[in-house]
Amino acid sequence: MQIHLSLRLLIGTLLVVALGSCSDATKDHQADGSAVSCLAAADTVTWTNGIKTIMEGSCTPCHSIYSTYATVAREISSISDSIDKGRMPKSPQTMTDAQKKTFKAWVTAGMVEVSCNK
Ligand code: HEC
Repeated sequence: MQIHLSLRLLIGTLLVVALGSCSDATKDHQADGSAVSCLAAADTVTWTNGIKTIMEGSCTPCHSIYSTYATVAREISSISDSIDKGRMPKSPQTMTDAQKKTFKAWVTAGMVEVSCNK
């Protein structure tokens, strides 16, 4: 009887741990590896939710390497600088003021990669 009770407790504990790690998988991560809760990130501008599309419209026709988050995150200072100083994008590609503002805000917020819904 005593053994059965502790077995049940053990199984219960394992279940809680397993469920706990499941909900971890729904968390997002920022560039520095810190977790962002799904609720907070649901409609945040992220790489997958807005930024990748901007890069594809303005930069990747000439710089195909900017189609991945890893490269953009790694080269963010020269990318931001080239946009701020007006060197990039080059014609015929363009970037609207609204897109520049969105891009800047994304950088300032820590370049979050993935939002919960997308
Ligand atoms: C029509 C082609 C074209 C587009 C579009 C373009 N680039 Fe460039 N980019 C170039 C060329 C060519 C160079 C080489 C240096 C030069 O000619 O100024 C360059 C150089 C760069 C450099 C390194 C030199 C510098 O000026 O800092 C960065 C960073 C850069 N591009 C970022 C971007 C970003 C970010 C975008 C999108 C917002 C973009 N580029 C869009 C053609 C393009």
